[in-house]
Amino acid sequence: KNIVILISGGGSNMAAIVRAAERDRWSGRFGARIAAVVSNKAEAGGLAIARTHGIETAVVPHKEFPTREAFDEALAKVVDAHSPALVVLAGFMRILTPGFVERYAGRLVNIHPSLLPAFPGLNTHQRAIDAGCKVAGVTVHQVTTELDHGPILAQAVVPVLSDDTAATLAGRVLAQEHQLYPRAIAEWLADTSSHTS
Ligand code: GRF
Repeated sequence: KNIVILISGGGSNMAAIVRAAERDRWSGRFGARIAAVVSNKAEAGGLAIARTHGIETAVVPHKEFPTREAFDEALAKVVDAHSPALVVLAGFMRILTPGFVERYAGRLVNIHPSLLPAFPGLNTHQRAIDAGCKVAGVTVHQVTTELDHGPILAQAVVPVLSDDTAATLAGRVLAQEHQLYPRAIAEWLADTSSHTS
């Protein structure tokens, strides 16, 4: 079972998933491996991390494509080269077209730094602080054509402290992301490998 991870930046979530796959022996337990890390940005720091783990990387620069559909088509071609059982969006900062989402329906997941359905979209931490929230958190969900609204797979909660800034809250949430995402993917693999075995 091949897993392809899509990133746009530092890739700290991708790195946490890669480390968990190695540490918890996903290949032996689920027959699963991280087949490739793909970014829409050549300068994404996560690409170098993937390479140090011996994982194939690719870049599909969205700026080189005339339309969102053309980019998604090129991206799908690169992704499909690995016949992925699961496509993982990890800090992937592109809104995907319905065509792409439907192509990977049921095997496309994302991590969003809020307790969905609260605060879909961007600037989630500042919005939670501005709203006077006492808790915040992170959601792992299946990706559907409605942005940040697919079936929820896992969530984690953190306190919002009175002196929090968006940055301090983001750091607290990110630490939870790095725990939650690998665990949610391992559970997904366990569920799907039980069906197929
Ligand atoms: C972070 O804001 C995280 O909350 C969200 O994507 C951003 C970058 O994540 N999931 P990463 O370090 O590239 O995984």
